[in-house]
Amino acid sequence: MKTRTPVSVYIIVTIGLTIMAFEMFSQDGNYFSSPYFWVLLLITTILLLIMNSIGDLVENENFHRLTNDEKKQYLEEKKVPYFQKLWNSAFKKQPATEEKDLIIDHGFDGITELDNSLPKWWIGLFWFGCIFCTVYMIAFAFTDYAHPDSEYEAETKAMLASIAEFEKNSPAIDLENAKYSADNIAEGEQLFKTNCVTCHAEGGKGGIGPNLTDGYWINIKEKSLFKNVFWMLENGSPNNPTMRPFIKEGTITGRDAEKIAAYVYHINQEIVPVTQAKGGAAPQGKPIQWESVTE
Ligand code: HEC
Repeated sequence: MKTRTPVSVYIIVTIGLTIMAFEMFSQDGNYFSSPYFWVLLLITTILLLIMNSIGDLVENENFHRLTNDEKKQYLEEKKVPYFQKLWNSAFKKQPATEEKDLIIDHGFDGITELDNSLPKWWIGLFWFGCIFCTVYMIAFAFTDYAHPDSEYEAETKAMLASIAEFEKNSPAIDLENAKYSADNIAEGEQLFKTNCVTCHAEGGKGGIGPNLTDGYWINIKEKSLFKNVFWMLENGSPNNPTMRPFIKEGTITGRDAEKIAAYVYHINQEIVPVTQAKGGAAPQGKPIQWESVTE
């Protein structure tokens, strides 16, 4: 009569498998707070305990039927702890006396081969691998588990959320702390296209609103061009309501004004101005030499 595997081993294996299944199939990964998880564990544990009690009864019954010698041998075997028994059997070698029964004779080439049984740890690993592979393939094909696309989406979402959080908590940009940065030019150009080209035309060469690329300005409120643009975005033009106070009225928010001002600085100070001869609007206002933006 064989000794039985302790119920604690079954329970630990069941918990492990349940976690593995939930890890693969649960959508949000937060299954520890799900009642289904705990109820399932509770039910399986109770079932295992019931099975174990039935096993005890059967074992008792069978024990009575053994001969005295068999009883002694059984009790002797039962003394060895379970895990030690497992360890021993995992590395059990075929005794030399058994080997002659295990020989496969090829016959035609005269070569004989030992057909030893595989070690139990190997077989266990093999079956675990097969089962894991099947479950994994199903999870991969039908759920979001370990799917690169959904992982990518989840990470993008988290990243965008953290950017939004950062923008919300970082101090609002005003005339005082606005800073020129070349990194903002590209984004500033896009914002300029959505908000400003209707009046200032493509590239700021001028239309309803003045040419922003030349050295002539109507409104001179700040010493640097970058700050002057920011001032205009905040307050609008004092003499022409067509140029609205975009920041005050809430059309331009967050760090956008800083980006747009960087773009206007770029087209005015860093590239050749679009003159009237090249299709730009005629200069308006006074000529001005702006202070360097780095001051
Ligand atoms: C509805 C038309 C309109 C829109 C849209 C507009 N502007 Fe203007 N803008 C004007 C007009 C008109 C002036 C001239 C104001 C004046 O005469 O004082 C002007 C003036 C300016 C000036 C000062 C130029 C100077 O010579 O004093 C700047 C800088 C400027 N705008 C930037 C922008 C930016 C940046 C945007 C986009 C966010 C923008 N504007 C959107 C019409 C517009």
